[in-house]
Amino acid sequence: MTIDQEIAKRRTFAIISHPDAGKTTLTEKLLLFGNVIRSAGTVKGKKSGKFAASDWMEIEKKRGISVTSSVMSFPYKDFHANILDTPGHEDFSEDTYRTLTAVDSVVMIIDATKGVEPQTIKLFKVCRMRGIPIFTFMNKMDREGRDPLELLSEIEEVLGIESYPMNWPVGMGKGFLGLYNRFGQEFVKFNGNEDEEYIPFAELDHHPEISEDSTFKSTKEEIELLEEAGNEFDAQRVKKGELTPVFFGSALANFGVKAFFDTFLNFAVPPQPRKTEKGYIEPNSETFSGYIFKIQANMNPAHRDRIAFLRVCSGKFERGMSVNVSRTNKSIKLNQTQAFMARDRETVDVAYPGDIIGIYDPNIYQIGDTLVEGKENYSYKELPQFPPELFRKVRVKNVMKAKQFRKGIEQLVQEGAIQLFRQDSTDDMILGAVGHLQFEVFEYRMKAEYNVEVEFVSLGDRIPRWIKNDKFEKRYFDSRSMLVRDRNENYAILFENDFTYRYFRDNNKEIELIDLLEENEYQ
Ligand code: G4P
Repeated sequence: MTIDQEIAKRRTFAIISHPDAGKTTLTEKLLLFGNVIRSAGTVKGKKSGKFAASDWMEIEKKRGISVTSSVMSFPYKDFHANILDTPGHEDFSEDTYRTLTAVDSVVMIIDATKGVEPQTIKLFKVCRMRGIPIFTFMNKMDREGRDPLELLSEIEEVLGIESYPMNWPVGMGKGFLGLYNRFGQEFVKFNGNEDEEYIPFAELDHHPEISEDSTFKSTKEEIELLEEAGNEFDAQRVKKGELTPVFFGSALANFGVKAFFDTFLNFAVPPQPRKTEKGYIEPNSETFSGYIFKIQANMNPAHRDRIAFLRVCSGKFERGMSVNVSRTNKSIKLNQTQAFMARDRETVDVAYPGDIIGIYDPNIYQIGDTLVEGKENYSYKELPQFPPELFRKVRVKNVMKAKQFRKGIEQLVQEGAIQLFRQDSTDDMILGAVGHLQFEVFEYRMKAEYNVEVEFVSLGDRIPRWIKNDKFEKRYFDSRSMLVRDRNENYAILFENDFTYRYFRDNNKEIELIDLLEENEYQ
């Protein structure tokens, strides 16, 4: 197979959602289609002690959480799917955001009984920044949910993206009759769990149990309204992430999932050219290249080796090839590499754009590093700085250990485990994280790797805004709107809450504030 054919098959995507919307359940169904797992419950077995296929690290098993986002890779029909898991729940961290830089499209799951929830909004913004296709799965139609039209307008208003319903639910909960698949021109009858019956629209007259049903009739009127007043389907706008196709269904009942997956794979994009300082690099270029979006540290202090997750961006990867690390301009031979299969980690011999490989890291890589085959040297546009939301002042418990403390912080910050700020007025160290787990991991690793105990003082949830101005007067700040410097000496303000943020903004119009999730110039 040529490299162009390999690239055309690749669909590298992540599933984003708020906890409990059904990400695990949907992922499991996709793995079943791909014959990666044989029975339902394999992924969901966390609570019963069986671990999710993705939870492969020993430490994760011990801690009972998934510290990493892992990768599930499998062939399905004409495609090769790479699903990147985005840690949600209590293990939400900056890795979750970084993982989204390594995918080409995303599936957004929304719980139809709840609508758009906070975590989805944050993750959505990261995807939006990159202008990648976003497909929506409106889950739990087997339950009494909210009005479908209301859900659609919530997507449009809260997320600011136009939507196109590919299918439309007829009834819901106990009265769920099925899906009117306007895209596929057929009615999908819900006969209970795992039971889908496909009836082409042309044959509906022979099915009075549907065509004469009062819910069906009223739903048809709704659909006519959509046809007249709704958005038009436009594959180009889907590709640019301006229009999200919406699929209603039930992950648990495995209803509407297959049609969703098939359509998704058709419209989602294969690996695209990516930007470097030397211009865009085409995926089918002769030279292998990729960048590291995540580093998994081994939590066992006896083994300080790490695994770097590399997204292949161009060319063909072959085990044993020599690459140049752009940041250091040093050549390295890549011998120890792993592919991520859902069941196992296997040695990988070849990989193509869109694939993720794990590289053994004897502490030489950094998050954001670009690796290029041979002697060439360029860098994929650095990973953006993501705004943390949780902040804690940090101190060393025993001042005698101040030196190790500084060394530990410096390394962990450089590695991207956590962000470091300084309070401008006091020079106190402040750690910023996207999720609570990052503090826990920081504390654990400071102890395990640097033998340092730390003390935290929580500053709580904060709204960080960076200051665009070069010069500004420093007289307005206090503990509620705290002036800090990030590690690049850029000024930011940590606002105690939305009220203090708005108050400050309205009263200090000369200070220009930046929300990194809105304005990161990217890709
Ligand atoms: P997450 O990974 O996004 O956090 O969600 P997960 O799949 O774990 O699903 C959260 C809960 O929602 C689970 O129930 C799951 O069974 C349920 N669920 C997922 N999809 C559907 C659906 O289409 N319909 C309905 N009715 N429920 C759905 P749980 O009680 O928390 O877990 P479990 O003990 O039943 O496994």
